[in-house]
Amino acid sequence: MRVCVIGTGYVGLVTGVCLSHAGHEVICIDNNEEKVKLMQSGQSPIYEPGLSELMKSSMEAKRLQFSSDLKAGVEHGEILFIAVGTPPLPTGESDTRYVEAVARGIGANLPENSYKVIVNKSTVPIGSGDWVRMLVLDGAKESKKELVGAGGAAVAEAPKITFDVVSNPEFLREGSAVYDTFNPDRIVLGSNGSRAIALMEELYTPIVERQFAEDKAAPQVPVVVTDLSSAEMIKYAANAFLATKISFMNEVANICDRVGADVTQVGKGIGLDSRIGNKFLNAGIGWGGSCFPKDVSALVHTADDYGYDAELLKATIDVNSRQRLVALEKLQHELKILKGKVVGLLGLTFKPDTDDMRDAPALIMIEHLNRLGARVKAFDPIVSQSGISNGMTGVIVETDPERLADSCDALVLVTEWKQFLDLDYTKMAGLMNDPLIIDGRNFLHRERMEQAGFRYVGIGR
Ligand SMILES: NC(=O)c1ccc[n+]([C@@H]2O[C@H](COP(=O)([O-])OP(=O)(O)OC[C@H]3O[C@@H](n4cnc5c(N)ncnc54)[C@H](O)[C@@H]3O)[C@@H](O)[C@H]2O)c1
Repeated sequence: MRVCVIGTGYVGLVTGVCLSHAGHEVICIDNNEEKVKLMQSGQSPIYEPGLSELMKSSMEAKRLQFSSDLKAGVEHGEILFIAVGTPPLPTGESDTRYVEAVARGIGANLPENSYKVIVNKSTVPIGSGDWVRMLVLDGAKESKKELVGAGGAAVAEAPKITFDVVSNPEFLREGSAVYDTFNPDRIVLGSNGSRAIALMEELYTPIVERQFAEDKAAPQVPVVVTDLSSAEMIKYAANAFLATKISFMNEVANICDRVGADVTQVGKGIGLDSRIGNKFLNAGIGWGGSCFPKDVSALVHTADDYGYDAELLKATIDVNSRQRLVALEKLQHELKILKGKVVGLLGLTFKPDTDDMRDAPALIMIEHLNRLGARVKAFDPIVSQSGISNGMTGVIVETDPERLADSCDALVLVTEWKQFLDLDYTKMAGLMNDPLIIDGRNFLHRERMEQAGFRYVGIGR
């Protein structure tokens, strides 16, 4: 099928590349010309395991193109994905101006006598499906086209533009986005148009049948078909639930710290209960990234708009804000005065296997350490090589873990990169002023760290 994906960030680029790998003809559109040029040259502007390889092979097979020409993309695609960012505003609401611009742009460029499916893949406030429909119609009106909705009655002249809007929320995790796209737990399709749903089901057939999955014999991927608002709500409810699960476990960790229990043992003990499940039970220094913070805040805001005080979700956010400072409190407890001390951060990104720094807990830690007069150094497998570090203030980004450890009074493990399990910690301890490590993700082995000469402090253990 012919597909156009508008917005080539973590979601859009991965979607476009994976759909082209699955056999569809895809054009990815972005209004950032520099990014488009980079992608046209075969390079990915983001880091995601496996993405560059698939991108190159789909480009060679001539199933994947990049452009900044929205008109060409809209003409090409039977299915048009909107995958632009919806960052948070200071009020907690989502900033939907990029979605608005794209929806109007699609309307202005919809060709006559063709049917298009317009898919919201961006996470948008509940009710945005109808809003996008309105904006597409506005865009079309502004470009003086005659309009009829899908299945609409014939008017004086023959129908010229027909389209339906679908909400198809994205659940991929940064760091395993390609894997998640080919191995999803479910696909959610929300629309009021059966023609659109049928086309979306056809589009996703290779994925539903697990043709590119790790386990090809696994049962088909469940497709959940809903109305527009329910699909939009599913995305928010899923992220709010996961964020709440982590905040819950962080609260338990803080109580463990006080009563002398070990939260890692508690997590194992409760995770074996099938009603609870063993995922998202790791205590640490809190959640961050581009999705959880903004999506939970946006849901609180939506509830507020409709006269409901979402107290549990507010507590989820409050617990997380406090949790981000737990490593700092532990540093103060161990080192007392932080002024004039050197603290090394192992990891900067909000999670491993990504280059994404949006709302990363490391940023808040850097800010507070600076305020308290400590010198901050960091090493991150991706950030240290990528040059992103050039834009970071208040932190010296080192090129390797040993340079990081040199002259530090403490290390804090911020991101659980796999390679941090196997560093030469004995050598690193020898280079430090004080071999203290705060394991902000309960990721390292206490005994091994102690054998290497470290004083080990975890979270809730
Ligand atoms: N990142 C994730 O893990 C994730 C997961 C699920 C859902 N989402 C949601 O998906 C959406 C996209 O997120 P992301 O992280 O990929 O965003 P991103 O910021 O990485 O990428 C957005 C892209 O859209 C482009 N863009 C902006 N305005 C444009 C326009 N008018 N025309 C063409 N391109 C335009 C930008 O240049 C950028 O490349 C958001 O709503 C987000 O909440 C993200």
